[in-house]
Amino acid sequence: MKSSQAITEKEKELIELARTALQHAYTPYSGFKVGAALLTGDNQIFTGCNVENTSFGLTVCAERNAVYAAVCKGDTKFRKLVIIVEQENPSLPCGACRQVLLEFSPELEVLAVGNTGQIQRMKLSELLPHAFKYKPGKIR
Ligand code: THU
Repeated sequence: MKSSQAITEKEKELIELARTALQHAYTPYSGFKVGAALLTGDNQIFTGCNVENTSFGLTVCAERNAVYAAVCKGDTKFRKLVIIVEQENPSLPCGACRQVLLEFSPELEVLAVGNTGQIQRMKLSELLPHAFKYKPGKIR
């Protein structure tokens, strides 16, 4: 499926950076490589790839690695996320990554990109409606 909305120059840059990150994905178990690029409110870009582990549950997704790289630099407001895969169909962030992204930026726009130019555009609020939210101090 193609996005009806035109791709901006900034989005092209994000796609290229996500593609580069994908090339570093460490996936000896699944072979499924994912790259992510996150545009912050300060116009910074952070990237991530998935990193698998022999103890499978320790695997970290590309999106979360990008989020954590941004947070380490003090950037916690995200505007746009590109996620790219090597298959024709774009792949949307997993449930765990949706929850982590929501922690910082409920208004985030997500562009899922396939390897022959297909783009699926969604809002994080569409991807994770009725999300779990915890307000410290409100339970008891
Ligand atoms: N993966 C991601 O990097 N992002 C997602 O949103 C879903 C899954 C990775 C984890 C694992 O290395 C591989 O894809 C197969 O699940």
